[in-house]
Amino acid sequence: MTTDLTKEAHSILRSNDRGGYTIPTKGLYPFQWNWDSAFVALGFATFDEGRAWQEIESLFEGQWENGFLPHIVFRKDDPTYFPGPKEWGTARHHWMPTSGISQPPVLATIIRNLYERNKTDSSLLKLRQIVPKIFKWHNWYHKNRDPHAKGFIATAHPWETGRDNLPDWDEPLNNVDISDLEPYVRRDIAHVNQEMRPQKFDYDRYVRLVHFGRDCSWNDHTIAQQNPFWVADVGLTCILLRADRDLKILTEEIGAVDLSKHLSAWIDKGEEGLDRLWHDGVLGYTSFDCRSGRHSNMLNAGTILPFYAGCVPSQRVDALLSHMERWWKRCRFGIPSFDPDHTLFDSIRYWRGPVWAVMNWLIARGLEDEGYEDYSKRIIDNTVALIEGAGFRENFCPATGIGCGGHDFSWTAAIWLDLQARK
Ligand code: DGY
Repeated sequence: MTTDLTKEAHSILRSNDRGGYTIPTKGLYPFQWNWDSAFVALGFATFDEGRAWQEIESLFEGQWENGFLPHIVFRKDDPTYFPGPKEWGTARHHWMPTSGISQPPVLATIIRNLYERNKTDSSLLKLRQIVPKIFKWHNWYHKNRDPHAKGFIATAHPWETGRDNLPDWDEPLNNVDISDLEPYVRRDIAHVNQEMRPQKFDYDRYVRLVHFGRDCSWNDHTIAQQNPFWVADVGLTCILLRADRDLKILTEEIGAVDLSKHLSAWIDKGEEGLDRLWHDGVLGYTSFDCRSGRHSNMLNAGTILPFYAGCVPSQRVDALLSHMERWWKRCRFGIPSFDPDHTLFDSIRYWRGPVWAVMNWLIARGLEDEGYEDYSKRIIDNTVALIEGAGFRENFCPATGIGCGGHDFSWTAAIWLDLQARK
C-alpha cells in the first residue's frame, strides 16, 4: 500500500505541474500558491531535486521590487477562480499578475531542508541566488507587517495567514464594512462541497479586504494604518521566526555576514513578540486584534507552533502538551485545526476543525526538534493513517478521518513523500 501511495503521490505532483510551477489541485486552485509551492518543493525533492528548485525559482518570478512575495502568482486569468487578477489590481507593481497579500513564509525552512539533503556545488549556487531574494521577502514582512517593531506579525487578510476561516478571525472581521460591496459570484463552491468551505459572512469580507488593498494601490503604510482587519497571528509569527533561524544558517553557508546580523536581530525581536501572544487565561498562545487591543481566547493548531519556532519556555510546555492530549480525547485524529471543545468547532469546514497534513508536518517538526518525539510520532502516524484511509485530500475530518475539500492535492502528496523519505 505504501508503495502504491508513493507512486500516486508522484503522479499527483507530475499531473498538477503546469510547466515549472505546480497548482495545488485541479479546479479549485488553478494558479501557483506561495506556501503550497514551498511544500511541493519538499515533495519533489524526494524524487526530482532539479524540479524542486525550479518550483521555488518560478514562485520568485512573482516577487515585487520591494521584496513582497505574493500568495498567488496568476500568470494568466482563469474564469473558474474568483477573485482573479482584475480584482487584485496589482499591475503597477509587477509585470506578472499576482495577488496583493503574502502567505506563511515556510520557504526558508524548506530550502534549508532541500540544501542539506544534498550539498553540492550546484545547490550552493542555487542557494547564493535564492537567499538574497528570501531575505528581501522576510525584510518586507518585518517592515510592513510589524511596523511598530512589536516582534509579532500582523496580517491584513485571513488568506495571508493561510488559515482562512479560523474562528479567531470572526470578531475582527466584524469591523469590515461590507455595505458598499458589489455583487460577485463565488467560484469555489462550484468545485467543492459548500459545507467544507468558508461561509458567505467570511467571503463578503475577504472580497471587501481585497478591494481595500486594491483601492489604496497596495500601499503598505496605508494598510498597516487603516486596513479594517489587522490581527497578530501566532501562526505567521512562529513560521517567520523559524524561517529567520533557518535563513540565518543559510546566510552563513554562503558567507553573507551582513544579512546574518539582521536575522539575529529579527530573531531576538520575534522571541519577544511571541511571548506577548501568550494568554494566561487560556494557557496558550493566541491571536491579538491590533485594532481593538483584544486577545482571542480561542486555541487552535497554531497554539502548538511555538515549538516549531523553537521558543517555548519550560514552564509553558505542559500546558501546550495537555491541550493536544485533550484534543485527542475528543478526536481520533490530530491535530484538529481548531479546538474541538469550543462551540465554534466544525469538523469538516476548512480551518474550523479539519486536520491538515501541512500543519501536522510543521507541528511534528517542532515537537521533534524540541525533544518531544512521542508527540511528534503520534502526529505523523495520524497523518499517515488519514492519507491511507482517505487518499490525498485537501484536509480531513479529525473525528471520522473522511477526506474533505479538494482531491489529488499537491501538498498532501508532498507531505506523504517527505514522511516516507524520512523513515
Ligand atoms: C481560496 O481562494 O480559498 C484561497 O484560500 C485564497 O488563498
